[in-house]
Amino acid sequence: MTEVTARAPSKVIVLGEHFVVLNSRALSTAVSIYSRATAEDGGEGVIIESKSMGVRARLDVGSRAPDPRLEPFAEALRRLRSMDYDLAPARVVVDSDAPPSAGLGSSASTVAAFLLAYTTLVGDPLNKDNLFSITLAAEDVAHGASSGVDPATVVYGGTILYSIKDRVIERLEGPIRGARLIIADSGVRRSTAGPVMSVIELRRRLGQPAELIYSAADIVALRGIEALKRGDAAELGLLMNFNHGLLSAIGVSSPELEDLVYAARAAGALGSKLSGAGRGGIVIALAPEGSEDKVTGALRARAPWVLKPEVGVPGAEVVELTR
Ligand code: PMV
Repeated sequence: MTEVTARAPSKVIVLGEHFVVLNSRALSTAVSIYSRATAEDGGEGVIIESKSMGVRARLDVGSRAPDPRLEPFAEALRRLRSMDYDLAPARVVVDSDAPPSAGLGSSASTVAAFLLAYTTLVGDPLNKDNLFSITLAAEDVAHGASSGVDPATVVYGGTILYSIKDRVIERLEGPIRGARLIIADSGVRRSTAGPVMSVIELRRRLGQPAELIYSAADIVALRGIEALKRGDAAELGLLMNFNHGLLSAIGVSSPELEDLVYAARAAGALGSKLSGAGRGGIVIALAPEGSEDKVTGALRARAPWVLKPEVGVPGAEVVELTR
C-alpha cells in the first residue's frame, strides 16, 4: 500500500482584499495553520473523508458531489480527468486546522492539499502552476468567481504581491522583520460571496469616488511589499490602518471588527485591520517586538481565539510518502 500526506498553509490577506477582485494588487501571506490530506491507494473509486465536515463519500466525475461541500473536490477530479489523469481508486482523508468562513482560505488550502496528495499517490504530482489553476477552478465552482488570491497564496506560499491579471507579481519568503502578525477571530461567520457582491455593486453605483479608492488600495499594496523588503514594520502598520479605513468605506467592516481593530491599536499594534471578506471573520494586528504580549492579551480578552502563526511559510508540499 502507498500512503501520501500533503499539507497546505492557510492565507492571510495583509493588504488589498476586495479591491483585488477588480484588478487592484493585493499583498497576501501564507501562515502556519495547515490543512492536510492523506491519500492511500485501493478500494473502489475515489473516496473522500473530511474530518472537519464530518462527511465521507465517493466522488464521481460524471455527477455532482453527494454533499455540496464536497463539490470543489469533485471539480478538482474532473479537471484532472480532462488533463488525462487516470483516476485510480483511493481513499483521501482531509482535515484543516483553519476554521471555515473566517477569512483564512481553509477551502483553498484543503483542496490544494487533496490534489497534491492524490496526484502524488497516482505517480504524477501536479506542478505548482497546475496545482494553482485547478485549485482556483475548484474554488470557483463552489464559491462563485474569485480573484484567485487564496489559491495562489496557499499553493506558492511566502508573501505575494498578486493581481488577477498578472497572478503572482512578486514573492518573498520568511517572517516580517521587527514585528509579529497576530490573528484574532471576531466569532462572526459569513460567506465570502455576500460581501464581494455588495462591494461590486457599490462600485458600480458610486463610480468615480469608489474607483479612486481602488487606485489608492492598489498603491497601498505595492507600498506594503516595498516596506516588507526594507524591514519597515512601522510603515507596513500604517498602511494596514489606512487599508482598514478603505475597507470601512466600502462597507465591509462591522462593530465586532472595529472593536478588535481599535483594541489592538490601543495595546500598541503598529497597525490592525480586518482581513478577508469582512463583516465578520478575522482581524490581523502587527505587534512590534516587545508589545506582542500586550496586543495578544487585549485581543484574547475579546476574541474567541487568537493565533500567532509563522508568516511567509512555504506553500503546498508533500510531507510524507510511504510505500
Ligand atoms: O474571506 P476570504 O478568505 O474568503 O477572502 C476573500 C478575499 C476577497 O478579496 C474578498 C475575495 C477574493 O476572491 O479575492
